[in-house]
Amino acid sequence: MLNKINRLKAEIESLKASTAEEIEVLRIKYLSKKGEISQLFNDFRTVAAEQKREVGKLLNELKELAQNKINELKEEQGNGSQEVCPIDLTRTSYPVRLGTRHPISLVKNEICDIFGRLGFSIAEGPEVEDDWHVFSALNFADDHPARDMQDTFFIQRSPDVLLRTHTSSVQTRIMEHSTPPIRIICPGRVYRNEAISYRAHCFFHQVEALYVDKNVSFADLKQALLFFAKEMFGPDTKIRLRPSYFPFTEPSAEMDISCNLCGGKGCAFCKHTGWVEILGCGMVDPNVLEACGIDSNVYSGYALGMGIERITNLKYQVKDLRMFSENDQRFLEEFVSAH
Ligand code: DAH
Repeated sequence: MLNKINRLKAEIESLKASTAEEIEVLRIKYLSKKGEISQLFNDFRTVAAEQKREVGKLLNELKELAQNKINELKEEQGNGSQEVCPIDLTRTSYPVRLGTRHPISLVKNEICDIFGRLGFSIAEGPEVEDDWHVFSALNFADDHPARDMQDTFFIQRSPDVLLRTHTSSVQTRIMEHSTPPIRIICPGRVYRNEAISYRAHCFFHQVEALYVDKNVSFADLKQALLFFAKEMFGPDTKIRLRPSYFPFTEPSAEMDISCNLCGGKGCAFCKHTGWVEILGCGMVDPNVLEACGIDSNVYSGYALGMGIERITNLKYQVKDLRMFSENDQRFLEEFVSAH
């Protein structure tokens, strides 16, 4: 019996196998119910009582050796010939950090949504423009001082290539290629040569709205403005129109809304007037319609334009315009919305 144990021990220690099948054959040979080691356990009954202790110990050690060897072979075989899957499918996923929308985008989308409900569709135009679309077609005379109202970044002179100073240029582009009815809302970035401070930047964003059709009147404009103000700032918002001047509208007006911080009572934000200015508007000047090939005897229209930063400030009370372009994540992460 002892001899057999020693022989098997030596045999098992030097076992080799390269495939799963070979390993299985060895397992059956030594460890299965009818395997060599089980046979030895059966024969154990015949061992003399005084030897039982010693032989029993050796037998158990042999069995353990065989099990370890088989496991070792399995492991070697697994590492060697089989591709180990590099992906741990049981690992939990990394937490996904969702980004947030930029406050300017949130407000832009909201403005577009509101005008969308009035039937306006979105139109866009280029940021690098020519003089005609930004100024001349919009009734700015060559030597008109209004051109100085907007400090223009010129890329090239004669012919003039420039960065658009307002989204009114999109009006021109749409009108010259379409026949009324035209009902568009044009969001976009604009550029002006301004010193950067908490209240001015060399680029900012505007939304322009244009409606041209037969019999469009100032009353239509006023109604659209009131609807917009209430949708944007709440149902209690009041509006007020003040006469103003823009080369491309006649008559022109500026619209104030009741200060939504103090409810119109007067505070530092509204300079204690109870009103804050939010946009420019007016009836499209017949010269502009004609310049774009639209018969001003048949059609009339209204237009309005507003700065998105200004509306955003009113909604979220951002004190410093520069925050919008500094990419400070602590600031940006404060804006979470479905828009
Ligand atoms: N384009 C003007 C600006 O940048 C804003 C504006 C005023 C647009 C009146 C309009 C308008 O369409 O009717 O200051």
